Amino acid sequence: MTKIIQISDPHIVPHGQLAYGQVDTASALAECVETINRRLPDIGPIDMAIVTGDLTDFGTEEEYQRFRELMSPLAIPYRAVPGNHDDVSLMRACFSDEDWMPADGPINWISDFENLTLIGLDSSVPDMAHGHLVDDTLAFLKSALAARTGNPVIVALHHPPIMTGIEKMDIQNLRESRKLQSILSDHEHELRLICGHVHRNIVAHFGGAICQVAPGISHAVTMDLREGAANCLSKEPGGFMLHETRNGIVSHSIPVGRFPGPFLFYPDS
Ligand SMILES: [Fe+2]
Ligand SMILES: [Fe+2]
Repeated sequence: MTKIIQISDPHIVPHGQLAYGQVDTASALAECVETINRRLPDIGPIDMAIVTGDLTDFGTEEEYQRFRELMSPLAIPYRAVPGNHDDVSLMRACFSDEDWMPADGPINWISDFENLTLIGLDSSVPDMAHGHLVDDTLAFLKSALAARTGNPVIVALHHPPIMTGIEKMDIQNLRESRKLQSILSDHEHELRLICGHVHRNIVAHFGGAICQVAPGISHAVTMDLREGAANCLSKEPGGFMLHETRNGIVSHSIPVGRFPGPFLFYPDS
């Protein structure tokens, strides 16, 4: 069995600052790492973690260094793809010592496990909030899928290619997603698309695959489905995902933090 943890949208800011003046994202990431490490005996062993974008809030060198420091206690290896709040050049420089980080071009990579392939795609567009997959990235995905016909595949990118009903996010989602849909539809084995960006747990169908949007680890985009709703965040509990191969890919949402329990349902029986 292969098990992948998905962490999304940490939005790390410089020391002494709160994201959007509201959210202590560094504390949230530290708590997320602590939660994962503490839960490993119950849910592991975990093969890898993937951070699905918006590692930082402004894409600065200081923020990337702080992100790495906060992630360093994580007891499992991790990789990442950029989001709209990231800077590809500075993210590349920050992870230049990692063998998964390409020396140039989009931050795309492949990780093969015994019975699962994880493909990371760069959907970021410089200085823009919406997502886009350049031709090189689409060709990378097409050739990666063509070479992997036996195992389930997880494709990870920041921007969801689906409409969520949250208007201010939907206008920033992945553009020209028909090309992605066409490539995914050609793949005959199980395929799961995992995304971030919306900071909410959302599931939808896309191109014959399930598209899973992960919750943010620190704050949520406010659940407001009204037309013209303001672009807001809410301090809902953070969470991360566990994707594992059983008879197919099973995805669990796990909250960040400590909670009472476990308690036996029937302690006297
Ligand atoms: Fe985000
Ligand atoms: Fe984003």
